[in-house]
Amino acid sequence: MRIHAFTDTLALARRLAASLRLSLRPVTTSRFPDGESLVRVDHRRGDDAILVRSLHDPDAKLIELLLAADALRQAGARRLTLVAPYLCYMRQDRAFAPGEPVSQRIIGALLGGLFDRVLTVEAHLHRVRRLAEVVPGAARSLPAAPALADWVRRQAPGALLIGPDAESAPWVRAVARRAGSAWAVGDKQRLGAARVRLALPPLPAARHAVLIDDIASSGATLAAAARAARAAGIARVDVAVVHAICAPGALARLRRAGVRRVVSCDTIPHPTNAMPVAPLLAAALRRGAPGRGARRVL
Ligand code: R5P
Repeated sequence: MRIHAFTDTLALARRLAASLRLSLRPVTTSRFPDGESLVRVDHRRGDDAILVRSLHDPDAKLIELLLAADALRQAGARRLTLVAPYLCYMRQDRAFAPGEPVSQRIIGALLGGLFDRVLTVEAHLHRVRRLAEVVPGAARSLPAAPALADWVRRQAPGALLIGPDAESAPWVRAVARRAGSAWAVGDKQRLGAARVRLALPPLPAARHAVLIDDIASSGATLAAAARAARAAGIARVDVAVVHAICAPGALARLRRAGVRRVVSCDTIPHPTNAMPVAPLLAAALRRGAPGRGARRVL
């Protein structure tokens, strides 16, 4: 088995390859003068292949990804696994307004058609329970709770954990259970791409809170939660997210709202990365290795 990675996800792929003791090959990319992409892979015929690419900024990446999947098939890859630590287009899981697509379903079908297995971390799944309902075939979203709880235990013992909305309740509860922390969730109403209204319930007495969410994109959700927590008398507010999409201005928005520290899982390369997910991915891949119950695990 070989691991292949695009340069934008090379750091995580290196950790994965080291942990699995597999050889790592970069996928090289170039552009034709008309803007079309060309990718090249270095694969050994008959080997299984794992392709690693995080899919933030997805429109620029999906074409290269599907070209690389074909290049690996042409090169004789047997079973093809996509490891996308961040999986794109999962939030548009229904047509929220007339004329909109269900992006989750169409992107899921595309990836399911290209790869034999798809592995990700904390996909944004709210209206479906399992990733395999969206990505046909063997697909699995790993919970990030172990990585978040490990950070909370070491860096914020005793802090109150707050999720911004009801959707965040399952993972805030899972992190709180593992870390032995008190927790609460707010009530959020989205008013626009970067505008939210948010209220917190009466909170237990605490001087330190960690806001927990799956995604920080505009930062509006977490900034509103931070303002509400500070208004409730909490002196120190930190943020721990799984996927630091962090659009331009997001971190400044969080600082203005009084957030002291922002940490994220390394599913998307970002200066806030503090919680490694390679151990979670490596463990899942190890359990799913051919001949050792792959079909059951993924
Ligand atoms: C929403 O359902 C997600 O869990 C996040 O709360 C949301 O994507 C964060 O977006 P933003 O940072 O733009 O408020």
